[in-house]
Amino acid sequence: MTIPLKIAGVGYCVPESIITNEDLTKLYETSDEWIYTRTGIKERRVVSGNETAIDIGYKAALDAIKHSKIDVNDIDCIIGASSAPPKLYPGLACNMQTLLGIPKGTPAFDLTAACTGLIYALQVARGFIGTGTYKNILIVASDNNSKISDWTDRGTSILFGDGAGAMVVTASDDGIDDILSIEINADGSIGNYISTELPGQNCPLVKQNEYVGECKIRMSGKEVYKFAVTTVPKYIDRAIEMSGLTSDEIDYLIPHQANQRIIEALQKRLQYPDEKVISNIQFYGNTSAASIPIALVEGVEQGKIKLNSTAVICGFGAGMTWGCAVIRLREGIC
Ligand code: UT7
Repeated sequence: MTIPLKIAGVGYCVPESIITNEDLTKLYETSDEWIYTRTGIKERRVVSGNETAIDIGYKAALDAIKHSKIDVNDIDCIIGASSAPPKLYPGLACNMQTLLGIPKGTPAFDLTAACTGLIYALQVARGFIGTGTYKNILIVASDNNSKISDWTDRGTSILFGDGAGAMVVTASDDGIDDILSIEINADGSIGNYISTELPGQNCPLVKQNEYVGECKIRMSGKEVYKFAVTTVPKYIDRAIEMSGLTSDEIDYLIPHQANQRIIEALQKRLQYPDEKVISNIQFYGNTSAASIPIALVEGVEQGKIKLNSTAVICGFGAGMTWGCAVIRLREGIC
């Protein structure tokens, strides 16, 4: 028998420093008008000084754990969803274990699925919980996008911001499964649409590699855009069909916040009114895997989302990866 999963707590944290579109005009030729009309973004948050994705991830995790009412000593697995962590290793999840005082020995690992990381982590957690391997799993999604953005490239650096989201998922204590459907996907053959090289050279005793690499986001914006508006909607339809609900019966669409025009394309496909579609890209840009939990919790805080409801969530990004799920939003999760 598969053990059902409960989404017990969700949290988020964004850094304090705000970079507006106007600020970006100091870096290259651009305008608030160009950025806003093409992306819906007005400003984004970035870490500053010695702050990293670990610090904001920690605060998001504390928030999610508080909402879940789970004791840190009872967390038995930690999954980091991070594609641009501040350190290659130890991973984000291992850092969370130490900072939060989660018992030594608890497994902690990161997975790399870029902006789909939260949905990938949810699917992995579901496997662990479903089989009874672990009972209380902490998922932390946090990236240092601002550190790997090329701040001379106006085509990509306008898009990204820093932020962290976290979820605590547990074995359900009332038999109700909060994941009505979930599917994760990838197509590595179009991986060149968004990529970041890890710089490095071969051992000095062998022939050197010609390209040393540069740890910066490289993106074919147009290709990503087309991919997002053609592929993702089909998988949203599939997730809804698998959930056993109709799209009308689902209360909210909480999409990955990559571009307002992509969000609107998804909205149009579902024929949802504005009240059912959660968007906060205007204030944060694209915060990768953190964007869904940030939009969810902030949506609740601002009264846009009423709990005791359902939502279809979808993510897409480097890999290319994508994933969709229909989830239940219980009272008290945030
Ligand atoms: O999680 C997934 C993450 N990635 C995405 O979601 C990316 C999806 N793609 C997009 O959001 C859009 O492709 C962008 C917003 C990134 C770019 O919009 P676009 O309509 O595809 O613009 P473009 O790259 O084709 O550039 C059009 C023009 C170019 O000028 P020319 O060659 O036509 O003279 C660019 O040089 O706009 C110029 N441009 C800019 N102008 C002012 C590009 N960036 C800027 C800028 N300000 N920031």
